[in-house]
Amino acid sequence: MSSENPTFQDLFKSENDIPEEYKVPTIHQREYLLNGELIQWNGDVTEIYSPICIPTENGLQRKLLGSIPNITAKEAMDVLEASVKAYDNGLGEWPTMSVEARIKCMQKFVYLMIQQRDLVIKLLMWEIGKTLPDSTKEFDRTVDYINLTIDALKDLDRESSRFKEAEGTIAQIRRAPLGVVLSMGPFNYPLNEIFTTLIPALIMGNTILFKLPKHGVLAHYPLLKAFQEAFPKGTVNTLYGKGSEIITPIMESGKVNVLAFIGSSKVANGLKKLHPKVNRLRAILSLDAKNAAIVTKHANIDVAVSECILGALSFNGQRCTALKLIFVQKEVAEEFTQKLSTAVSAMKAGLPWEKDVKITPLPEVNKPPYLKECIEDALAKGAKVLNENGGYNEASFVFPAVVYPVNDQMKLYHEEQFGPIIPIVPFDDISEPIDYQVNANHGMQVSIFSEDPVETSKLIDAFVNLVSRVNINCQAQRGPDVFPFTGRKDSAEGTLSVFDALRSFSIRSLVAAKITESNKTLLNSIVRDHDSNFLSTDYIF
Ligand code: G3H
Repeated sequence: MSSENPTFQDLFKSENDIPEEYKVPTIHQREYLLNGELIQWNGDVTEIYSPICIPTENGLQRKLLGSIPNITAKEAMDVLEASVKAYDNGLGEWPTMSVEARIKCMQKFVYLMIQQRDLVIKLLMWEIGKTLPDSTKEFDRTVDYINLTIDALKDLDRESSRFKEAEGTIAQIRRAPLGVVLSMGPFNYPLNEIFTTLIPALIMGNTILFKLPKHGVLAHYPLLKAFQEAFPKGTVNTLYGKGSEIITPIMESGKVNVLAFIGSSKVANGLKKLHPKVNRLRAILSLDAKNAAIVTKHANIDVAVSECILGALSFNGQRCTALKLIFVQKEVAEEFTQKLSTAVSAMKAGLPWEKDVKITPLPEVNKPPYLKECIEDALAKGAKVLNENGGYNEASFVFPAVVYPVNDQMKLYHEEQFGPIIPIVPFDDISEPIDYQVNANHGMQVSIFSEDPVETSKLIDAFVNLVSRVNINCQAQRGPDVFPFTGRKDSAEGTLSVFDALRSFSIRSLVAAKITESNKTLLNSIVRDHDSNFLSTDYIF
């Protein structure tokens, strides 16, 4: 853990050495979106700093990117009331609008969003340190997600547009909104993760209280106007400030119908408990995970090494789906750890826009000391850092550490490090990693590396009932976004995929009548004259 390694001497650059094309203007945001208006805020603000440091006379300093409103509980309640009013017990303009008209609003939003692509991508790089290819992918994947959501809703609507008959009753069954949705997401995918709940919730006719993430907040600034212009007033309202001050009274009001939260189970539990009407609150949650990789003696070691690096170190290990603990069978442990350490040592560190850079500075101020603490705990209990420069730290930057051998006495065995450390546990029998998952509090995904069909089958059959996705000879991941994304135990509540999210943020509602001549005449007349937005046989093209 030397601090004098020459490899990293030029990691942080002076402002003059940052290419013009990647610079961003300082943004002092003073507006928040309330009831269709960008309200000017004159109160307290929070400064936003980049994980990217600039060398100064006083050493390395995180670059100031701008500031955001720090609204109080009073304004937060105004924001809540705007969402409640826009929903109006389901009678508001947005929840009663036809699906076709809601889709048109969403298409306008996505059109306006694409105009801001370059700035949002640059802000993602500066605010959370995500590389240029990954920031670009986050933006483009989000646009694809919105377009896929529109297509999925068209399909859903087409299926619901015909009447069904049973036992002398005729009915039309559609999905209807749930009410006011509080949408909160994490810093690691500040755009994508939030939009994977916010967009389906919105398009299903709910109104939205959008609490911006702590890091990645300015990346949403260029999109505020798009929300304002594309949707009826009050449909989307934004919240900036300390969660404990502004979210607590909102939850305590009992007026939130759905909590869409991506973060820790501890925070999610606390929020749910604040709601006075527990049966009324629905929760769509994506929470803790410490996905394991299992490399057996029958694995293709080269495949295991390259996939474990992708799984453990993409975006510096700051993904809920990251591989955070690797089990390796003792017969192949030496070969695997050597190849892995060599490959990790060769990873290029630098600033997000630099070519081929894979390891970048970390946004959370307390993360480097926490990672150091995890490594020191493992070293004190008998592990070693295997790779050159492993754990090297300078300001917000930490070079990945391959830590071996890890055991169940160490923090790294149990805690979700959410950062660039690869803890490796040697094992004799495949029952050992199964026991790990049985005893874990989380159950999101696992990656199995083996080319033996009998062994792979045994592991598949054990893990499908312990986690929600078993990856064979590849890293853990959320995508493709049309696949279900969920977890067991403390890892999730509800399921998100393009299609599942539309279901999660809606409830089936049906209109039913006895099949009589007068009812047939009545229903035919309503449908023919387009009197109802709900009861309709229109086919959306
Ligand atoms: O942090 C959780 C993300 O949803 C993971 O998405 O597996 O596609 O990187 P990803």
